Amino acid sequence: MFEEIRLIPYPRKVGRINGYKDCTSIRISGQRRVNGMDVGEFLGIYGVNTGQDGVNVSCETGLDDCGTEGYKLSISDEGVKLRAGTDAGLIYALVTLAQLIGNYGGKIPVCEIEDSPSTAYRGFMLDAGRYFFPKEDVIKLVDLCVLHKINAFHWHLTEDQGWRLESEKYPLLTEKGSRRSHTNFGIRPHGGFYTKKDIAEVVEYCRKRNVSVIPEFDVPGHSVAALSCYPWLGCFDRKLKVATHSGVKHDVMCAGKESTYTFVTDVLDEIVGLFGGNTAYIHIGGDEAVKTRWKICPHCQAKMKELGLKSEGELQAYFMSRVADHVVGKGFTPVMWNETDLSLPCHEKAVWQIWTTGGALSVADIARFAAKHGGVINSDSNYAYLDMPYAYVNLEKCYSFTPMPDGIEPGGFVGAEAALWTEYVPNFKSACRKSLPRLCALSDAMWGRYGGDFSGFCARLDFFEKYLAQLGYKGSGRAQTMPGKARAFFQKIVFERRQLHWQGLHNLIDNAAVKRKYGKEKR
Ligand code: ACM
Ligand code: ZN
Repeated sequence: MFEEIRLIPYPRKVGRINGYKDCTSIRISGQRRVNGMDVGEFLGIYGVNTGQDGVNVSCETGLDDCGTEGYKLSISDEGVKLRAGTDAGLIYALVTLAQLIGNYGGKIPVCEIEDSPSTAYRGFMLDAGRYFFPKEDVIKLVDLCVLHKINAFHWHLTEDQGWRLESEKYPLLTEKGSRRSHTNFGIRPHGGFYTKKDIAEVVEYCRKRNVSVIPEFDVPGHSVAALSCYPWLGCFDRKLKVATHSGVKHDVMCAGKESTYTFVTDVLDEIVGLFGGNTAYIHIGGDEAVKTRWKICPHCQAKMKELGLKSEGELQAYFMSRVADHVVGKGFTPVMWNETDLSLPCHEKAVWQIWTTGGALSVADIARFAAKHGGVINSDSNYAYLDMPYAYVNLEKCYSFTPMPDGIEPGGFVGAEAALWTEYVPNFKSACRKSLPRLCALSDAMWGRYGGDFSGFCARLDFFEKYLAQLGYKGSGRAQTMPGKARAFFQKIVFERRQLHWQGLHNLIDNAAVKRKYGKEKR
Protein backbone atom coordinates (compact mmCIF):
# COMPACT_ATOMS: atom_id res chain seq x y z
CA MET A 1 0.00 0.00 0.00
CA PHE A 2 1.21 3.54 -0.78
CA GLU A 3 2.51 5.22 2.33
CA GLU A 4 2.77 8.99 2.42
CA ILE A 5 6.23 10.09 3.38
CA ARG A 6 6.30 10.89 7.09
CA LEU A 7 6.51 14.65 6.91
CA ILE A 8 4.40 17.51 8.22
CA PRO A 9 3.85 19.74 6.36
CA TYR A 10 3.80 17.41 3.38
CA PRO A 11 6.24 18.39 0.62
CA ARG A 12 5.18 19.59 -2.82
CA LYS A 13 6.83 16.71 -4.70
CA VAL A 14 8.19 13.37 -3.47
CA GLY A 15 9.73 10.65 -5.62
CA ARG A 16 9.49 6.91 -4.99
CA ILE A 17 11.01 5.56 -1.81
CA ASN A 18 13.80 3.16 -2.79
CA GLY A 19 14.63 1.57 0.53
CA TYR A 20 15.92 2.98 3.79
CA LYS A 21 19.28 4.13 5.06
CA ASP A 22 20.61 4.04 8.61
CA CYS A 23 20.99 7.57 9.87
CA THR A 24 21.50 7.94 13.60
CA SER A 25 24.20 10.55 13.17
CA ILE A 26 25.27 12.92 10.41
CA ARG A 27 28.44 14.64 9.23
CA ILE A 28 28.07 18.03 7.59
CA SER A 29 29.96 19.00 4.47
CA GLY A 30 29.74 21.98 2.10
CA GLN A 31 28.09 25.03 3.61
CA ARG A 32 28.33 24.73 7.41
CA ARG A 33 26.53 27.87 8.41
CA VAL A 34 23.01 29.01 7.71
CA ASN A 35 21.93 32.59 8.43
CA GLY A 36 24.90 32.91 10.78
CA MET A 37 24.05 29.70 12.70
CA ASP A 38 26.14 26.58 12.87
CA VAL A 39 24.19 23.92 10.94
CA GLY A 40 25.04 21.20 13.47
CA GLU A 41 23.91 23.30 16.40
CA PHE A 42 20.69 24.23 14.64
CA LEU A 43 19.94 20.57 13.95
CA GLY A 44 20.82 19.65 17.54
CA ILE A 45 17.71 21.49 18.72
CA TYR A 46 15.70 18.97 16.70
CA GLY A 47 17.48 15.96 18.16
CA VAL A 48 19.93 15.33 15.31
CA ASN A 49 23.38 14.05 16.32
CA THR A 50 26.27 15.49 14.39
CA GLY A 51 29.69 13.85 14.46
CA GLN A 52 32.68 12.77 12.36
CA ASP A 53 31.35 9.43 11.14
CA GLY A 54 27.68 9.82 10.38
CA VAL A 55 25.88 10.01 7.04
CA ASN A 56 27.36 12.74 4.88
CA VAL A 57 25.01 15.73 4.57
CA SER A 58 26.09 18.35 2.06
CA CYS A 59 24.49 21.78 2.14
CA GLU A 60 24.45 24.26 -0.70
CA THR A 61 22.61 27.50 -1.44
CA GLY A 62 22.48 29.66 -4.53
CA LEU A 63 20.25 27.50 -6.75
CA ASP A 64 18.10 29.68 -8.95
CA ASP A 65 15.09 27.39 -9.39
CA CYS A 66 13.95 26.97 -5.78
CA GLY A 67 12.22 30.27 -5.02
CA THR A 68 12.78 32.16 -1.79
CA GLU A 69 11.79 29.37 0.60
CA GLY A 70 12.03 26.24 -1.53
CA TYR A 71 14.62 23.47 -1.39
CA LYS A 72 15.64 20.14 -2.87
CA LEU A 73 16.55 17.17 -0.75
CA SER A 74 18.11 14.05 -2.15
CA ILE A 75 18.86 10.92 -0.16
CA SER A 76 20.95 8.24 -1.87
CA ASP A 77 23.49 5.58 -0.92
CA GLU A 78 26.17 8.27 -0.97
CA GLY A 79 24.44 10.46 1.57
CA VAL A 80 22.11 13.42 1.77
CA LYS A 81 22.22 16.49 -0.45
CA LEU A 82 20.38 19.63 0.62
CA ARG A 83 20.16 22.41 -1.91
CA ALA A 84 18.27 25.68 -1.90
CA GLY A 85 18.24 29.14 -3.39
CA THR A 86 18.48 30.92 -0.05
CA ASP A 87 19.36 30.30 3.58
CA ALA A 88 15.60 30.26 4.31
CA GLY A 89 15.19 27.34 1.89
CA LEU A 90 18.18 25.58 3.45
CA ILE A 91 16.60 25.94 6.92
CA TYR A 92 13.50 24.16 5.61
CA ALA A 93 15.63 21.44 4.01
CA LEU A 94 17.34 20.94 7.38
CA VAL A 95 14.11 20.66 9.36
CA THR A 96 12.76 18.24 6.76
CA LEU A 97 15.84 16.10 7.29
CA ALA A 98 15.46 16.36 11.07
CA GLN A 99 11.82 15.24 10.79
CA LEU A 100 12.75 12.30 8.58
CA ILE A 101 15.37 11.14 11.09
CA GLY A 102 12.91 11.62 13.97
CA ASN A 103 9.81 10.23 12.27
CA TYR A 104 11.57 7.16 10.85
CA GLY A 105 13.52 6.46 14.05
CA GLY A 106 16.99 6.86 12.53
CA LYS A 107 16.34 5.04 9.21
CA ILE A 108 15.70 7.60 6.52
CA PRO A 109 13.94 6.83 3.23
CA VAL A 110 16.07 6.90 0.07
CA CYS A 111 14.16 9.40 -2.09
CA GLU A 112 14.08 12.80 -3.80
CA ILE A 113 12.04 15.73 -2.52
CA GLU A 114 11.33 19.09 -4.12
CA ASP A 115 9.48 21.47 -1.93
CA SER A 116 8.20 25.04 -1.64
CA PRO A 117 5.22 26.68 0.07
CA SER A 118 2.02 27.85 -1.58
CA THR A 119 1.32 30.54 1.05
CA ALA A 120 3.85 33.32 1.58
CA TYR A 121 2.86 34.37 5.13
CA ARG A 122 2.39 31.42 7.48
CA GLY A 123 1.82 32.65 10.99
CA PHE A 124 1.46 31.59 14.59
CA MET A 125 0.15 33.99 17.22
CA LEU A 126 0.92 33.79 20.92
CA ASP A 127 -1.17 35.84 23.32
CA ALA A 128 1.43 36.65 25.98
CA GLY A 129 -0.86 39.33 27.44
CA ARG A 130 -3.38 37.15 29.28
CA TYR A 131 -0.65 34.88 30.56
CA PHE A 132 3.01 35.75 30.49
CA PHE A 133 5.25 33.22 28.77
CA PRO A 134 8.90 33.50 29.85
CA LYS A 135 11.44 34.14 27.11
CA GLU A 136 12.69 30.53 27.27
CA ASP A 137 9.17 29.24 26.54
CA VAL A 138 8.76 31.72 23.71
CA ILE A 139 11.99 30.41 22.18
CA LYS A 140 10.72 26.82 22.47
CA LEU A 141 7.51 27.84 20.71
CA VAL A 142 9.54 29.53 17.97
CA ASP A 143 11.53 26.29 17.53
CA LEU A 144 8.20 24.51 17.15
CA CYS A 145 7.10 27.03 14.52
CA VAL A 146 10.30 26.53 12.54
CA LEU A 147 9.80 22.76 12.60
CA HIS A 148 6.38 23.43 11.03
CA LYS A 149 7.90 25.84 8.45
CA ILE A 150 5.97 28.76 9.89
CA ASN A 151 7.63 32.07 9.07
CA ALA A 152 5.72 34.70 11.07
CA PHE A 153 5.53 34.90 14.87
CA HIS A 154 2.75 37.27 15.88
CA TRP A 155 3.41 38.32 19.46
CA HIS A 156 0.31 39.72 21.16
CA LEU A 157 1.96 41.82 23.86
CA THR A 158 -0.66 44.10 25.40
CA GLU A 159 -3.92 43.07 27.02
CA ASP A 160 -6.43 43.95 29.70
CA GLN A 161 -4.74 41.40 31.95
CA GLY A 162 -1.16 42.44 31.40
CA TRP A 163 1.30 44.70 29.60
CA ARG A 164 4.44 42.81 28.57
CA LEU A 165 6.57 45.31 26.71
CA GLU A 166 9.22 47.41 28.46
CA SER A 167 8.83 51.09 27.61
CA GLU A 168 11.32 53.85 28.36
CA LYS A 169 8.83 56.63 28.03
CA TYR A 170 6.06 54.99 30.04
CA PRO A 171 7.79 52.89 32.72
CA LEU A 172 4.61 52.29 34.74
CA LEU A 173 3.37 50.05 31.95
CA THR A 174 5.61 47.29 33.18
CA GLU A 175 6.15 48.42 36.78
CA LYS A 176 2.44 48.23 37.43
CA GLY A 177 0.68 47.08 34.28
CA SER A 178 2.48 43.76 33.93
CA ARG A 179 0.94 42.25 37.05
CA ARG A 180 -2.59 41.18 37.95
CA SER A 181 -3.57 40.42 41.52
CA HIS A 182 -5.14 37.06 40.70
CA THR A 183 -6.27 35.03 37.70
CA ASN A 184 -9.02 32.81 36.32
CA PHE A 185 -7.29 29.92 37.95
CA GLY A 186 -6.69 31.10 41.48
CA ILE A 187 -5.83 33.65 44.08
CA ARG A 188 -2.15 34.00 43.30
CA PRO A 189 -0.87 37.08 41.46
CA HIS A 190 0.51 36.62 37.97
CA GLY A 191 2.83 38.79 35.94
CA GLY A 192 5.98 39.31 33.96
CA PHE A 193 7.29 41.33 31.07
CA TYR A 194 9.94 41.29 28.38
CA THR A 195 12.86 43.65 28.74
CA LYS A 196 14.19 45.36 25.65
CA LYS A 197 17.11 42.92 25.84
CA ASP A 198 14.73 39.91 25.91
CA ILE A 199 12.92 41.24 22.90
CA ALA A 200 16.12 41.89 20.98
CA GLU A 201 17.17 38.31 21.73
CA VAL A 202 13.89 36.78 20.56
CA VAL A 203 13.79 38.97 17.45
CA GLU A 204 17.34 37.94 16.51
CA TYR A 205 16.64 34.28 17.28
CA CYS A 206 13.67 34.42 14.95
CA ARG A 207 15.45 36.38 12.22
CA LYS A 208 18.12 33.71 11.95
CA ARG A 209 15.39 31.12 11.48
CA ASN A 210 13.45 32.91 8.74
CA VAL A 211 10.74 33.95 11.18
CA SER A 212 9.63 37.55 11.25
CA VAL A 213 8.19 38.85 14.52
CA ILE A 214 4.98 40.85 14.28
CA PRO A 215 4.40 42.75 17.52
CA GLU A 216 0.83 43.56 18.47
CA PHE A 217 -0.05 46.66 20.46
CA ASP A 218 -3.83 46.30 20.74
CA VAL A 219 -5.71 49.64 20.63
CA PRO A 220 -8.13 51.12 21.55
CA GLY A 221 -9.69 48.11 23.33
CA HIS A 222 -8.01 45.39 25.37
CA SER A 223 -6.08 48.14 27.10
CA VAL A 224 -7.16 48.03 30.75
CA ALA A 225 -3.59 47.23 31.88
CA ALA A 226 -2.39 50.49 30.26
CA LEU A 227 -5.38 52.41 31.61
CA SER A 228 -4.61 51.20 35.11
CA CYS A 229 -1.15 52.82 34.85
CA TYR A 230 -2.19 56.01 33.09
CA PRO A 231 -5.87 56.74 33.86
CA TRP A 232 -5.84 59.76 31.52
CA LEU A 233 -5.79 57.29 28.62
CA GLY A 234 -9.45 56.50 29.32
CA CYS A 235 -12.52 58.64 28.80
CA PHE A 236 -13.12 59.52 32.46
CA ASP A 237 -9.66 59.11 34.04
CA ARG A 238 -11.05 56.23 36.08
CA LYS A 239 -8.75 54.46 38.53
CA LEU A 240 -8.76 50.89 37.34
CA LYS A 241 -6.86 47.76 38.26
CA VAL A 242 -5.15 45.44 35.78
CA ALA A 243 -7.96 43.09 34.81
CA THR A 244 -7.93 39.82 36.69
CA HIS A 245 -10.33 37.79 34.53
CA SER A 246 -11.10 37.32 30.87
CA GLY A 247 -14.16 38.85 29.19
CA VAL A 248 -14.58 41.90 26.99
CA LYS A 249 -14.03 45.10 28.97
CA HIS A 250 -15.91 48.36 28.51
CA ASP A 251 -13.07 50.68 29.51
CA VAL A 252 -11.05 51.43 26.39
CA MET A 253 -8.73 54.23 25.32
CA CYS A 254 -10.40 57.59 24.75
CA ALA A 255 -10.51 58.42 21.05
CA GLY A 256 -11.27 62.07 21.71
CA LYS A 257 -8.20 63.21 23.63
CA GLU A 258 -5.08 64.12 21.70
CA SER A 259 -3.02 62.75 24.60
CA THR A 260 -4.18 59.23 23.66
CA TYR A 261 -2.75 59.60 20.15
CA THR A 262 0.51 60.93 21.59
CA PHE A 263 0.75 57.87 23.86
CA VAL A 264 -0.08 55.42 21.08
CA THR A 265 2.39 56.89 18.61
CA ASP A 266 5.13 57.15 21.28
CA VAL A 267 4.73 53.47 22.11
CA LEU A 268 4.63 52.57 18.43
CA ASP A 269 7.89 54.42 17.89
CA GLU A 270 9.50 52.33 20.62
CA ILE A 271 8.02 49.19 19.04
CA VAL A 272 9.47 50.14 15.66
CA GLY A 273 12.88 50.51 17.30
CA LEU A 274 12.63 47.04 18.86
CA PHE A 275 11.07 45.00 16.09
CA GLY A 276 11.65 47.03 12.94
CA GLY A 277 14.71 45.08 11.86
CA ASN A 278 12.74 41.86 11.43
CA THR A 279 9.23 42.69 10.29
CA ALA A 280 7.34 44.48 7.57
CA TYR A 281 4.18 44.44 9.70
CA ILE A 282 3.08 46.09 12.95
CA HIS A 283 -0.22 44.89 14.42
CA ILE A 284 -2.41 47.57 15.99
CA GLY A 285 -5.29 45.42 17.20
CA GLY A 286 -8.65 47.12 16.83
CA ASP A 287 -10.74 44.16 18.00
CA GLU A 288 -13.61 44.15 20.47
CA ALA A 289 -13.48 47.89 21.14
CA VAL A 290 -16.70 48.52 23.04
CA LYS A 291 -18.15 52.01 22.45
CA THR A 292 -20.13 52.40 25.70
CA ARG A 293 -17.77 54.98 27.24
CA TRP A 294 -17.30 56.86 23.98
CA LYS A 295 -21.06 57.46 23.76
CA ILE A 296 -21.07 59.57 26.90
CA CYS A 297 -17.52 60.94 26.82
CA PRO A 298 -17.33 64.69 26.17
CA HIS A 299 -13.92 64.32 24.48
CA CYS A 300 -15.07 61.56 22.13
CA GLN A 301 -18.30 63.37 21.33
CA ALA A 302 -16.43 66.63 20.67
CA LYS A 303 -14.03 64.79 18.33
CA MET A 304 -16.97 63.31 16.44
CA LYS A 305 -18.54 66.72 16.09
CA GLU A 306 -15.28 68.31 14.97
CA LEU A 307 -14.79 65.63 12.30
CA GLY A 308 -18.44 65.30 11.30
CA LEU A 309 -18.54 61.62 12.26
CA LYS A 310 -21.98 60.07 12.49
CA SER A 311 -21.32 57.13 14.80
CA GLU A 312 -18.86 55.74 17.31
CA GLY A 313 -18.07 53.08 14.68
CA GLU A 314 -16.85 55.89 12.45
CA LEU A 315 -14.85 57.23 15.38
CA GLN A 316 -13.11 53.88 15.64
CA ALA A 317 -12.45 53.92 11.89
CA TYR A 318 -10.89 57.37 12.34
CA PHE A 319 -8.83 56.19 15.33
CA MET A 320 -7.50 53.09 13.56
CA SER A 321 -6.81 54.98 10.32
CA ARG A 322 -4.85 57.62 12.18
CA VAL A 323 -2.78 55.00 14.00
CA ALA A 324 -2.35 53.07 10.73
CA ASP A 325 -1.09 56.23 9.02
CA HIS A 326 1.54 56.61 11.70
CA VAL A 327 2.72 53.04 11.17
CA VAL A 328 2.88 53.57 7.41
CA GLY A 329 4.79 56.81 8.00
CA LYS A 330 7.42 54.78 9.82
CA GLY A 331 7.76 52.48 6.81
CA PHE A 332 5.69 49.52 8.03
CA THR A 333 2.43 47.87 7.07
CA PRO A 334 -0.27 48.09 9.75
CA VAL A 335 -2.33 44.99 10.47
CA MET A 336 -5.66 45.19 12.29
CA TRP A 337 -8.34 42.73 13.28
CA ASN A 338 -11.35 42.72 10.99
CA GLU A 339 -13.74 44.72 13.21
CA THR A 340 -12.67 48.14 12.02
CA ASP A 341 -15.66 49.76 10.36
CA LEU A 342 -14.86 50.63 6.76
CA SER A 343 -17.14 53.64 6.66
CA LEU A 344 -14.08 55.87 6.48
CA PRO A 345 -11.10 55.46 4.23
CA CYS A 346 -8.35 53.47 5.88
CA HIS A 347 -4.79 53.49 4.64
CA GLU A 348 -4.52 51.59 1.39
CA LYS A 349 -1.64 49.57 2.84
CA ALA A 350 -3.58 48.35 5.88
CA VAL A 351 -3.97 44.60 6.22
CA TRP A 352 -7.03 43.02 7.80
CA GLN A 353 -6.68 39.95 9.95
CA ILE A 354 -9.90 37.99 9.53
CA TRP A 355 -11.23 36.13 12.54
CA THR A 356 -15.01 36.61 12.70
CA THR A 357 -16.28 34.87 9.60
CA GLY A 358 -19.73 33.40 9.41
CA GLY A 359 -21.27 36.25 11.40
CA ALA A 360 -21.72 39.84 10.31
CA LEU A 361 -18.63 39.71 8.13
CA SER A 362 -19.54 38.72 4.60
CA VAL A 363 -17.32 37.33 1.87
CA ALA A 364 -18.08 40.51 -0.08
CA ASP A 365 -16.79 42.66 2.83
CA ILE A 366 -13.57 40.70 2.94
CA ALA A 367 -13.12 40.83 -0.83
CA ARG A 368 -13.87 44.55 -0.90
CA PHE A 369 -11.33 45.25 1.81
CA ALA A 370 -8.69 43.00 0.23
CA ALA A 371 -9.06 44.68 -3.15
CA LYS A 372 -8.86 48.24 -1.82
CA HIS A 373 -6.22 47.78 0.87
CA GLY A 374 -3.10 45.78 1.62
CA GLY A 375 -4.87 42.40 1.69
CA VAL A 376 -5.95 39.91 4.32
CA ILE A 377 -4.47 37.40 6.72
CA ASN A 378 -6.86 34.56 7.37
CA SER A 379 -7.28 33.43 10.99
CA ASP A 380 -10.88 32.27 10.75
CA SER A 381 -11.71 31.33 14.33
CA ASN A 382 -13.74 28.34 13.12
CA TYR A 383 -10.52 26.73 11.91
CA ALA A 384 -7.45 28.57 13.11
CA TYR A 385 -8.11 29.38 16.79
CA LEU A 386 -5.99 26.94 18.74
CA ASP A 387 -7.60 27.69 22.08
CA MET A 388 -11.12 26.70 21.04
CA PRO A 389 -12.45 23.45 22.49
CA TYR A 390 -11.75 20.54 20.17
CA ALA A 391 -15.51 19.96 20.18
CA TYR A 392 -15.83 23.12 18.05
CA VAL A 393 -12.52 23.08 16.17
CA ASN A 394 -11.42 19.51 15.85
CA LEU A 395 -8.30 18.23 14.16
CA GLU A 396 -10.06 17.27 10.94
CA LYS A 397 -11.48 20.77 10.64
CA CYS A 398 -8.01 22.27 11.02
CA TYR A 399 -6.67 19.99 8.32
CA SER A 400 -9.45 21.16 6.00
CA PHE A 401 -8.54 24.85 6.52
CA THR A 402 -8.38 26.84 3.27
CA PRO A 403 -5.85 29.63 3.80
CA MET A 404 -7.14 31.92 1.05
CA PRO A 405 -10.73 32.90 1.91
CA ASP A 406 -13.43 32.46 -0.72
CA GLY A 407 -13.82 35.29 -3.15
CA ILE A 408 -10.36 36.80 -2.62
CA GLU A 409 -8.04 37.47 -5.53
CA PRO A 410 -4.46 36.20 -4.96
CA GLY A 411 -3.23 39.81 -4.97
CA GLY A 412 -5.40 40.57 -1.93
CA PHE A 413 -4.16 37.59 0.05
CA VAL A 414 -1.23 38.02 2.43
CA GLY A 415 -1.42 34.67 4.18
CA ALA A 416 -2.85 32.75 7.11
CA GLU A 417 -2.22 32.39 10.80
CA ALA A 418 -2.99 30.01 13.65
CA ALA A 419 -3.80 31.91 16.83
CA LEU A 420 -3.32 30.83 20.44
CA TRP A 421 -5.32 33.00 22.83
CA THR A 422 -4.52 32.33 26.44
CA GLU A 423 -7.56 33.16 28.57
CA TYR A 424 -7.29 29.61 29.89
CA VAL A 425 -3.78 28.71 28.80
CA PRO A 426 -1.56 29.51 31.77
CA ASN A 427 1.73 27.90 30.75
CA PHE A 428 3.86 26.15 28.15
CA LYS A 429 2.46 22.70 28.93
CA SER A 430 -1.07 23.91 28.39
CA ALA A 431 0.00 25.80 25.24
CA CYS A 432 1.27 22.52 23.80
CA ARG A 433 -1.92 20.64 24.70
CA LYS A 434 -4.01 23.27 22.92
CA SER A 435 -1.75 23.82 19.91
CA LEU A 436 -0.74 20.27 19.16
CA PRO A 437 -1.63 18.59 16.99
CA ARG A 438 -3.86 21.34 15.56
CA LEU A 439 -0.83 23.40 14.58
CA CYS A 440 0.47 20.38 12.65
CA ALA A 441 -2.75 20.28 10.62
CA LEU A 442 -2.86 24.04 10.07
CA SER A 443 0.79 24.23 9.06
CA ASP A 444 0.17 21.47 6.53
CA ALA A 445 -2.80 23.41 5.15
CA MET A 446 -0.82 26.67 5.04
CA TRP A 447 2.20 25.08 3.34
CA GLY A 448 0.00 23.69 0.56
CA ARG A 449 -1.78 20.52 1.78
CA TYR A 450 0.18 18.57 -0.79
CA GLY A 451 -0.42 15.21 0.88
CA GLY A 452 -3.47 13.00 0.90
CA ASP A 453 -6.67 13.06 2.85
CA PHE A 454 -7.20 13.37 6.59
CA SER A 455 -6.54 9.68 7.24
CA GLY A 456 -3.17 9.97 5.49
CA PHE A 457 -2.39 13.02 7.60
CA CYS A 458 -3.28 11.11 10.79
CA ALA A 459 -1.02 8.23 9.77
CA ARG A 460 1.89 10.68 9.38
CA LEU A 461 0.94 12.40 12.57
CA ASP A 462 1.20 9.20 14.62
CA PHE A 463 4.96 9.21 13.99
CA PHE A 464 5.38 12.97 14.20
CA GLU A 465 3.69 13.15 17.60
CA LYS A 466 6.15 10.64 19.04
CA TYR A 467 9.02 12.71 17.68
CA LEU A 468 7.51 15.91 19.06
CA ALA A 469 7.15 14.29 22.48
CA GLN A 470 10.85 13.35 22.39
CA LEU A 471 11.61 17.03 21.77
CA GLY A 472 9.47 18.04 24.76
CA TYR A 473 6.24 19.01 22.99
CA LYS A 474 3.35 16.94 24.29
CA GLY A 475 0.01 17.59 22.61
CA SER A 476 -3.48 16.24 23.16
CA GLY A 477 -4.36 12.68 22.18
CA ARG A 478 -6.69 11.69 19.36
CA ALA A 479 -9.65 10.94 21.67
CA GLN A 480 -9.43 14.55 22.85
CA THR A 481 -8.86 16.17 19.45
CA MET A 482 -11.51 14.17 17.59
CA PRO A 483 -13.98 13.86 20.44
CA GLY A 484 -16.96 11.53 20.32
CA LYS A 485 -20.42 12.78 21.26
CA ALA A 486 -20.08 12.41 25.03
CA ARG A 487 -16.62 13.97 25.23
CA ALA A 488 -17.64 16.81 22.90
CA PHE A 489 -20.65 17.51 25.10
CA PHE A 490 -18.40 17.70 28.16
CA GLN A 491 -15.85 19.96 26.40
CA LYS A 492 -18.64 22.32 25.35
CA ILE A 493 -20.11 22.47 28.85
CA VAL A 494 -16.73 23.45 30.33
CA PHE A 495 -16.23 26.10 27.64
CA GLU A 496 -19.73 27.60 27.80
CA ARG A 497 -19.61 27.67 31.58
CA ARG A 498 -16.39 29.68 31.33
CA GLN A 499 -18.09 32.12 28.96
CA LEU A 500 -20.66 32.78 31.66
CA HIS A 501 -18.22 34.67 33.85
CA TRP A 502 -18.90 37.60 36.11
CA GLN A 503 -17.64 40.12 33.55
CA GLY A 504 -21.06 40.46 31.93
CA LEU A 505 -22.76 41.26 35.22
CA HIS A 506 -19.88 43.48 36.29
CA ASN A 507 -20.13 45.46 33.01
CA LEU A 508 -23.85 46.06 33.54
CA ILE A 509 -23.39 47.37 37.08
CA ASP A 510 -20.27 49.34 36.21
CA ASN A 511 -21.88 50.93 33.14
CA ALA A 512 -24.80 52.11 35.27
CA ALA A 513 -22.36 53.62 37.80
CA VAL A 514 -20.36 55.40 35.08
CA LYS A 515 -23.51 56.78 33.51
CA ARG A 516 -24.79 58.01 36.83
CA LYS A 517 -21.53 59.74 37.61
CA TYR A 518 -20.50 61.14 34.24
CA GLY A 519 -23.64 61.89 32.34
CA LYS A 520 -26.37 60.69 30.12
CA GLU A 521 -25.98 58.81 26.89
CA LYS A 522 -26.27 61.28 24.04
CA ARG A 523 -28.28 59.13 21.67
C1 ACM B 1 -9.92 38.36 18.80
O1 ACM B 1 -10.12 37.15 18.88
N1 ACM B 1 -10.41 39.19 19.72
C2 ACM B 1 -9.17 38.94 17.71
ZN1 ZN C 1 -13.45 59.50 25.29
